[in-house]
Formats: sequence, structure tokens, C-alpha cells
Amino acid sequence: MTLSRTLARLACLVALCFGVALGTRPAHANNVVAIPPHVDTTGLPPLDDPNAEPNPYRGNPQAIGIGREAFNQSCARCHGVDADAHRSPAPDLRRVGRACERVREPALKTRCETDADVYFRHSVEEGKVKVGVRHMPAWKSVLSPQLIWAIRSFVDQQGSVQLNAPPHEP
Ligand code: HEC
Repeated sequence: MTLSRTLARLACLVALCFGVALGTRPAHANNVVAIPPHVDTTGLPPLDDPNAEPNPYRGNPQAIGIGREAFNQSCARCHGVDADAHRSPAPDLRRVGRACERVREPALKTRCETDADVYFRHSVEEGKVKVGVRHMPAWKSVLSPQLIWAIRSFVDQQGSVQLNAPPHEP
């Protein structure tokens, strides 16, 4: 066998190995798919403007209940059951907007909460990619704005509950 043929075979082998290595990546990526929740959303008030901000359902008990169901079906596997993320691989969502609680001036507080809502919704709709690796799926084709705000309302409420609860044991 000539040298060039040997080299060609070697190149094929390397390509094969790479192919196999790359072939295993989708298996990992499969974990990062958006699993739609099955919830009855008829209790959610219609949105006059689906792009309006801030979250129109903040504090709405019915939205919080529906949001909880959706959260536990679609988000809990990464962000923790009932948004308690202290043993979860993904960030604790109860922190998003938490700093606003310390803002005294009403107009600034509203601005702060609105920014946090917008960040939350944008993160959910687009998902998260870092250095080319998808960490969270995009949800915009899976969740309606109504359902995203309902989930946000639930997570928000869990944040307030957590603030008033004793800290976790180490
Ligand atoms: C497959 C795992 C996975 C699922 C399922 C998932 N997420 Fe995430 N999410 C992540 C990871 C990992 C990050 C952090 C990514 C990063 O910062 O690069 C993240 C980040 C976020 C952020 C930004 C948080 C911050 O502190 O910046 C929000 C908001 C969010 N997720 C909401 C949700 C919601 C709502 C759902 C359910 C509809 C959901 N996620 C489902 C893995 C997931």
C-alpha cells in the first residue's frame, strides 16, 4: 500500500471517529428540547396587546395556579420543582427581579420590575445559547405570551414566599 493511501485511510478513520463523536452530540442536545405543558388556559384574561409589558398577571391567583402547573411540567426538570432550584442544574428563577423589592421610589420600582419581566420573557422565548452550545430551548413556538406571563407570575410569587421563609439548610 502506498503512503498516500495509508494517509487517506487514516483520514477516513479520523473522519469516522469525528462523525461518531459529533453523532453523539444530538443525544445530549435532545435533552434541551421544549416540552409543551398541557394546561387549561381558559382562566387567563385575554391580552389586549400581546407585546405589552410589564407582566399583566402579576399577583393574579388564577394565573399563578396555571403558571405553577405549566412550570412544573415544562421547566422544573432544569429549574427545580416549584422553582426551588437549590439542587438544580439551571439558575434559580426566583432571583430574576428580586433586587426590585429593595427599590423604594414607586416609579423606579415599576421600571425595575418591568425590566425584569422583559428579560424573563425574552429569555424564555429565545432560550439560551452560550459559545455555540444551547443550554435552554427556545419556547416562543411552544408557549403563548399568556402562558409565559402566568409562569412568570408563579415564579415571582415563589420569590416572595422564599424571601419570608427561613434559609435552606446547607
Ligand atoms: C433543558 C433545561 C432547561 C429547561 C427545560 C428550561 N430551562 Fe431555563 N435555563 C436553563 C439554563 C441552563 C439556563 C442558564 C443558561 C445560561 O445562562 O446560559 C436557563 C436560563 C433561564 C432564564 C434566565 C435566568 C437568568 O438568571 O438569567 C430564564 C428566565 C429561564 N431559563 C426560564 C425558563 C422557563 C420559564 C422554562 C420553562 C418554560 C425553562 N427556563 C426551561 C435550562 C433550562
